[in-house]
Amino acid sequence: MPDDVSKHGMWSSRLLFVLAAAGSAVGLGNLWKFPYITGENGGGAFVVVYLVCIALIGIPVMMAEVMLGRAGRQSPINTIRALTERAGGDAWWPLIGWMGVVAGFLILSFYAVIAGWAIFYIFRLARGEFDGTDGSGANDAFNNFLAEPLEVTLWHTVFIAATVFIVARGVVGGLEVAVRWLMPVLFVLLILLVGYAAIYGDFAQGFSFLFSFDADKLSVGGVLTAMGHAFFTLSLGMGAIMAYGAYVPANTSIGTTAVTIAVLDTVVALAAGLAIFPIVFATPGLEPGTGPGLLFVTVPVAFGSLPLGAIVGAVFFILVSFAAVTSAISLTEPAIAFLVEEYNAKRPRVAITIGAACWLLGIGSVLSFNVWADVHIVGELTFFDFVDYVSGKILLPLGGLLIALFAGWVLPRAIAKEQLGLEQGWKWQVWTIGIRFVAPIGVVIVFAYTIYESAMA
Ligand code: PHE
Repeated sequence: MPDDVSKHGMWSSRLLFVLAAAGSAVGLGNLWKFPYITGENGGGAFVVVYLVCIALIGIPVMMAEVMLGRAGRQSPINTIRALTERAGGDAWWPLIGWMGVVAGFLILSFYAVIAGWAIFYIFRLARGEFDGTDGSGANDAFNNFLAEPLEVTLWHTVFIAATVFIVARGVVGGLEVAVRWLMPVLFVLLILLVGYAAIYGDFAQGFSFLFSFDADKLSVGGVLTAMGHAFFTLSLGMGAIMAYGAYVPANTSIGTTAVTIAVLDTVVALAAGLAIFPIVFATPGLEPGTGPGLLFVTVPVAFGSLPLGAIVGAVFFILVSFAAVTSAISLTEPAIAFLVEEYNAKRPRVAITIGAACWLLGIGSVLSFNVWADVHIVGELTFFDFVDYVSGKILLPLGGLLIALFAGWVLPRAIAKEQLGLEQGWKWQVWTIGIRFVAPIGVVIVFAYTIYESAMA
């Protein structure tokens, strides 16, 4: 095999990598999670912390992941192992890769459940269930659905099966079509929704909820949530982007790519917010702090009142589901690539094994909204909350911190310079400061602040 390619395949172009990475980044994190956690955390100030984390921590870490992946050309575990050896670093650095595999596994388990909701909503809208519905109608419909574990499990299963099917076929096949065509359509529909919100919703209030900075509304937990979400939404801290980075052609500019993806991802999240909150404020019975159901009660209200709403709404949820699949695929890639490397296993078999395990764990999240609603793993956290917490607020930021330290302090400078294609200029300085100091110190400050404040409380 020539030196500079990965045995798992290569992106056929720079554009394809950008699309794949954007497909990984844009998903339920933008459309489902961002609006609902913004609603729970009081809006504007939370959004500001999130944006600052994207810019100061997310972008440097994304560059680091792509760079490490491309320098190693293997699964994150083996990439870090090889680079550690080359640098003569401590033998425990590959732990980053292992943590990432665990995080991806935990995330996919609940991600698939929520994506299952989205698939079910395709059919719900298509059959006109929401024509003329109001806030309380949409709420009831959602709660009645969640109360049925078997039905929720069915759609969870459908999503896992779809993901396994695509993953089994390899990274490049299947993914290209999905991202090249569906992403732009999703974007158009999102704009349509924002337009609806601007005309029929309370746009002014929605806008000010999202963008007016009121520090009093931000809790300590909110700061950690915002930082964790910056990692989650950009697919960082668990090796997904590192795994994809391994398939990047040598001549791709890493900096430009990372900034492009981060901007795209942020625009989609803000557009989702601009679509959803005006509807929330204009509809009796809906409120920003509804929780995980927010997307599923606001969007049906909007489409339910539009001509052709049933069909356009169904298309919207088709696109949400596709956005979720392209993210789910990337959640499995670090583990799949590793198993293929270590055991020479065939992708389909590995994909089925991982899918089955995530499916099983996902049942815990299915039950968290009905049978186990009152079962708390720690404190007030249901099983779903717990898995979400451990993966999104602990493992991803911790993984990101270690990746930054590894890329900034352990990786030989010559490799970084060559990978980034930067000579001594100011860009190199900015990146060095970002990855060595700003990103790691940022994560540590948020962790320390959270621990300190909760110990004081
Ligand atoms: N970024 C994806 C989203 O926003 C979720 C994800 C997290 C994917 C971590 C890969 C790794 O939906």
